[in-house]
Amino acid sequence: MIRMDAFIINGGRQLRGRVRINGSKNATLPEMAAALLTDEPVILHDVPDLADIRNMARVLTPLGCSATRDTDASPKTYNLHTTDTSNSLAHYDIVRTMRASICTLGPMLARRGYAKVSMPGGCNIGDRPVDLHLRGLRALGAEIHLDGGYIIAESPGTGPHEKRRLRGSRIFLGGPYGSTVLGTDNVMCAAALADGVTVIESAACEPEVEDLAKLLNTMGAKITGAGSPRIIVEGVEKLHGTGPDGHTVMADRIEAGTYIMASAITNGDVVLENCPVDALLAVMDRLREVGVWLEPVDPPETPCNHNDPLRQTVRVVSNRRLEPTIVVTQPHPGFPTDLQAQMMALLSLADGNSIITEKIFPDRFLHVAEMLRMGASLIRSGNSALVSGTRELIGAPVMASDLRASAGLVLAGLAARGQTVINRVYHLDRGYERMELTLQQLGADIQRVDHPAV
Ligand code: EPZ
Repeated sequence: MIRMDAFIINGGRQLRGRVRINGSKNATLPEMAAALLTDEPVILHDVPDLADIRNMARVLTPLGCSATRDTDASPKTYNLHTTDTSNSLAHYDIVRTMRASICTLGPMLARRGYAKVSMPGGCNIGDRPVDLHLRGLRALGAEIHLDGGYIIAESPGTGPHEKRRLRGSRIFLGGPYGSTVLGTDNVMCAAALADGVTVIESAACEPEVEDLAKLLNTMGAKITGAGSPRIIVEGVEKLHGTGPDGHTVMADRIEAGTYIMASAITNGDVVLENCPVDALLAVMDRLREVGVWLEPVDPPETPCNHNDPLRQTVRVVSNRRLEPTIVVTQPHPGFPTDLQAQMMALLSLADGNSIITEKIFPDRFLHVAEMLRMGASLIRSGNSALVSGTRELIGAPVMASDLRASAGLVLAGLAARGQTVINRVYHLDRGYERMELTLQQLGADIQRVDHPAV
């Protein structure tokens, strides 16, 4: 049963202190599904403790893949092991709660020759079609049809027991809004076990795709070009597990961007550890434009870890009213759509007019109505919003709607005068590990309450 917790925030505190960025939710989810590609154990380190991770474990278990936290080695380590391939049905009841379940499709099809996965359906940020996923898998020779809201995918074959392998192919995966992150993951996983070479043109370039490719190569895949628009996969007969060293999930660039903006909107002074700066260059470009920048600092115990641009220790500096700017969300390496709501909160207090254009999910503006309740001056027109900076925001009861819109409302509440009550924070728990505790440690006046009187 979903708890209807709320956050109560008394705004106006400057955030100060240190926060370590967790492993990436959006890297972990497809990497958990990749355990379906082998009958050997897969170990993932630095896995965040989130509702979506627990949901993915619930998706994988009936598919014959155990997924459990390793409470002995480290609470952030997950052990996954597929020991039974007899059930390949990902049921509607759980897929509809987390669309990322779709990334079980490619791995199951590749290794078992069959997969039945519920169509994920839409959500608060858009229709969320999967046509590009299906285009890619069909190009690999899969026979796919829809029945009763389910995707039924089968490897080519002459009968129930003669499933041939998928075959390598050249695939164009571009769509009207650029490429597809989970679609690229599905096709890359399927191609890893296909017969022959696959070229994925217009692949998603997100760092999480690159991290998945690193995991697959650790498991014996032969993938080059991940992180670029052209990925080349030389299919192999079999993939093995990760071995005892496992794979460490990359740091979460969206969590990092959220806390960077939380510091900036309160004119705070926050140091972030394990920050994937190199995956945030478009965000840093816009933040620098408005008067926020990152300074590398020496972590207390080791010399500057500038050698790993995805795990840096940096200090967020912003000590003035911010300037307005123009933001357009794009596929990576452009400005990420998952930080659009947070940037809108930041710009709602800038000294002038900004324009935010959403090119990935044109309807991803559910946070606008709630920020208007807090005194923001926003005018939406199609897939753009004019943000006229005001001197202050005023606390109010608001409603969280999706994961990142909720994060935007938290940032607005941190800066607002007075009290903000954010209802339905279960949305936040999907992608942020106990956000209220992290913000409390940074000095925010924020409490989690259950069953609020709203
Ligand atoms: C991933 O979703 C992320 N989720 C999303 O983060 C993120 O917003 C999105 O990528 C875009 O960066 C995970 O990684 C688990 P897409 P995904 O397929 O892969 C259209 C969060 O808050 N499209 O890249 O499902 C689609 O409608 C979540 O952490 C098609 O047209 O997104 C959208 O406009 C929210 N056909 C665009 O492409 C398809 O077959 C990008 O979608 C697939 C997608």
